[in-house]
Amino acid sequence: MRQMEMSKVFTLMESGPVVLVTTHDGQKDNIMTISWTMVMDFTPVFALTTGAWNYSYAALRKHEECVIAIPTVDMLDTVVGIGTCSGADTDKFARFRLTPVPGKVVKAPLIRECFANIECKVIDIVKKHDIVVLEAVAAWIDPERKEQRMVHAVGDGTFIVDGRKFDRREMMASKLPPGV
Ligand SMILES: Cc1cc2nc3c(=O)[nH]c(=O)nc-3n(C[C@H](O)[C@H](O)[C@H](O)COP(=O)(O)O)c2cc1C
Repeated sequence: MRQMEMSKVFTLMESGPVVLVTTHDGQKDNIMTISWTMVMDFTPVFALTTGAWNYSYAALRKHEECVIAIPTVDMLDTVVGIGTCSGADTDKFARFRLTPVPGKVVKAPLIRECFANIECKVIDIVKKHDIVVLEAVAAWIDPERKEQRMVHAVGDGTFIVDGRKFDRREMMASKLPPGV
């Protein structure tokens, strides 16, 4: 995995892929699946909607850090599997044969099998709406990975995979931040 320039990290999340969020509670690592995400700033700042109904939430609140790991379409069954069992009774790294890799800044692990990994700090929790606001502090990408298509949840148990890309960079030049 290669470290990514922070100015480009928001582009990993802008299209709204389903992500895996890892946490470390002081003793063990865990992973949950999250499809409700939002980019809030280029810096980058992200929001997730999650709460105490998930086992991961206690670690996220207490340790105020996590990793957003971005899977690709070949990992779809793993992504759904992770999101339909709980770290309360399952070691998800072992069950889904994923490899935890130490990050540079946070204690939550990166997932080696994922296309990209974003180390994040929790900078706010908006309790009324169960929104967790994250600031990225480091990011990693695996440019050698053959499969790079991300997955997008429709919300009814079906998913859409990245397809054709259209270039409007020239038209959007006035709205694009430097370094993108
Ligand atoms: C495709 C998919 C998307 C999901 N998106 C969210 C989400 O946006 N927010 C959330 O709180 N839970 C979401 N979940 C549910 C959690 O991933 C699930 O409750 C998981 O078991 C939590 O793991 P934990 O209890 O080990 O923390 C999603 C599950 C799936 C399968």
